[in-house]
Amino acid sequence: MSESSPDVPLIRVRGLHQHFGDNHVLRGVDLDVHKGETLCLLSSSGGGKTVLVKHMLGLMQPDKGTIEVDGVDISHMRERHLGPVRKKLGMMFQNSALFDSMTVAQNIAFPLHEQGIKDINELNRRVSDVLEIVRLPGQENKMPSDLSGGMKKRVALARAIVDRPTCVCYDEPHAGLDPITAGSIDKLIKRLQHDFGITNIVITHELRSVFRIADRIIFMKDGTVYWQGTPAEMQVSQDPVLTSFLTGDDSETHA
Ligand SMILES: Nc1ncnc2c1ncn2[C@@H]1O[C@H](COP(=O)(O)OP(=O)(O)OP(=O)(O)O)[C@@H](O)[C@H]1O
Ligand SMILES: [Mg+2]
Repeated sequence: MSESSPDVPLIRVRGLHQHFGDNHVLRGVDLDVHKGETLCLLSSSGGGKTVLVKHMLGLMQPDKGTIEVDGVDISHMRERHLGPVRKKLGMMFQNSALFDSMTVAQNIAFPLHEQGIKDINELNRRVSDVLEIVRLPGQENKMPSDLSGGMKKRVALARAIVDRPTCVCYDEPHAGLDPITAGSIDKLIKRLQHDFGITNIVITHELRSVFRIADRIIFMKDGTVYWQGTPAEMQVSQDPVLTSFLTGDDSETHA
């Protein structure tokens, strides 16, 4: 099958293991991310979601297993070959991770500088385009300290999409946001999927958002994929582990 075939998952993870000392965080993760879908990744805190996504971006090398991006195994790729892979994948890090000493425009343009783009007109145009997309037009010269939590997330999202990735990974995009602002982030995530064909991988603890945006859900437990399915399938699941995660009631699973 050719690399760009629609039948090849955008990301295919097989037998992924990662440990830190005695902490065996990932214990054989197998999963596919399909092109064009919004996939929500759930687990208890410390379940290995952020570590898993870092592997997908080639930011970590696994102890064992493979990660293929568009049919190319990146699991032991050298740093200097990872550029084209990272270009496909935008990342919105946990806590927005903006540079406090840079303006909004400088923060957003950062990945373009890394790519060696220097033409000031092109930089300005691309920053202004993505600020329009995230509904923050004209905010180029603000400093991060002048922004609300929701605005910071939008700037982080603008930075994640400025290099036109085919996939965006969001690590806790709803954390610390009120329900209305969280809902506006959900609308943006779906807009990127529908208007720009972007594949979304969303790590979140916000179940209301999961049911609003997910095409598919993966629930991790004990370092593996415990369950996967659609939101409708999750809502009717009788699995006690899943039910206790969704309701926050662990009396049944710890009985
Ligand atoms: N660089 C690292 N060195 C050592 N341990 C790490 C490192 N990164 C992650 N861990 C450990 O791996 C485990 C999984 O962490 P991870 O951040 O992936 O969890 P998570 O599912 O994203 O949790 P949360 O929902 O709280 O963000 C944790 O026990 C964490 O302490
Ligand atoms: Mg995390």
